[in-house]
Amino acid sequence: MERLGVLTGGGDAPGLNAVIRAVTRCALRRGWEVIGFLDGYAGLIENRSVVLSSNYTSGLLHRGGTILGSNNRDNPFHFPVQTDKGIDYRDMSGQAVANLQKNGIDCLIAIGGDGSLAIAYELAQRGARVIGVPKTIDNDLLATDQTFGFDTAVTTATEALDKLHTTAESHHRVMILELMGRDAGWIALVSGIAGGADVILIPEIPWRLDSVIAKIKERQHEGKHFSIIVVAEGVKDPEGNYVIRQQIPTAHTKIRLGGIGPVLAGLIENATGIECRALVLGHLQRGGSPSAFDRVLATRYGVMAAELAMSGQHGLMVCLKGQDIEAVPLNLAVRGTRSVPPEGQLVKTARALGISLGD
Ligand code: F6P
Repeated sequence: MERLGVLTGGGDAPGLNAVIRAVTRCALRRGWEVIGFLDGYAGLIENRSVVLSSNYTSGLLHRGGTILGSNNRDNPFHFPVQTDKGIDYRDMSGQAVANLQKNGIDCLIAIGGDGSLAIAYELAQRGARVIGVPKTIDNDLLATDQTFGFDTAVTTATEALDKLHTTAESHHRVMILELMGRDAGWIALVSGIAGGADVILIPEIPWRLDSVIAKIKERQHEGKHFSIIVVAEGVKDPEGNYVIRQQIPTAHTKIRLGGIGPVLAGLIENATGIECRALVLGHLQRGGSPSAFDRVLATRYGVMAAELAMSGQHGLMVCLKGQDIEAVPLNLAVRGTRSVPPEGQLVKTARALGISLGD
């Protein structure tokens, strides 16, 4: 029987289940079988999988996370293997490709961000037939206009900003919201505009403390005794260093960022005497039910990926170009990441509103 494989790799994002559902529905209607590998590439290497039936994948549209499990640590090219002497890291990519053959998989649909899709590309170089689906709340993938998960993360961040506004105003405070996104400022910029931030700091635009303080003082002179600052986790401290939450040396992305918000709060409070509080929104941005936009985008990606795979195509990533779902060679997606253009329209829109970018 003809068979598709599916796995979800990297950090989870709202909409993963909608892709799994769409791939499965589309394939079953054409008489294909679908196998889901569990916990990302770990399940492929260890041959842990489930058969995705119509019942197994129903009721999934509104569910966040992934029914298949995921992880952003395991790398098939440097995979932890338990030995008598402890954990040894080995290249298990051959086993991953062999397990695809063993399971009779005609094409693997790998749903992931830059790390997971880079792995998918490397597996394709070793003979695996793969189609990539672009996922990440960070929206930082090359070769697509948008990843699914981003819209939901922005909605969550915007709701947080709405709530921070009222308490900031009551206490005449500076409230700082730190948002995810690694080296890309998409979540911070878009939700900062949507949530009416006064200052938005993103990794793509170098910032100065005096410039941020000038904006807070300008607002005070206008009689506005509170300010809202959005800062992306990838913004560096005044010495030019990342603020790092955790190191994972064996993972594809080895550092986890987090903590620039509280650092900034300390700096502003020391310099101005104004009370500051920082909130690191963290993994709330990855959780919960996907927005309607993400459900539809994820579904369109899943259908296109399944159709391409069933027509014998591979080595591609599905993508959004304008209003249309298209496909591009997978290698175009894994050559780097997509940053916010500092001279782009979104930044110009923010500046036109009087939002400070801290420069
Ligand atoms: O790539 C998605 C993301 O949520 C980033 O925005 C964030 O830096 C990272 O993953 C967090 O990773 P972890 O779940 O390992 O803490």
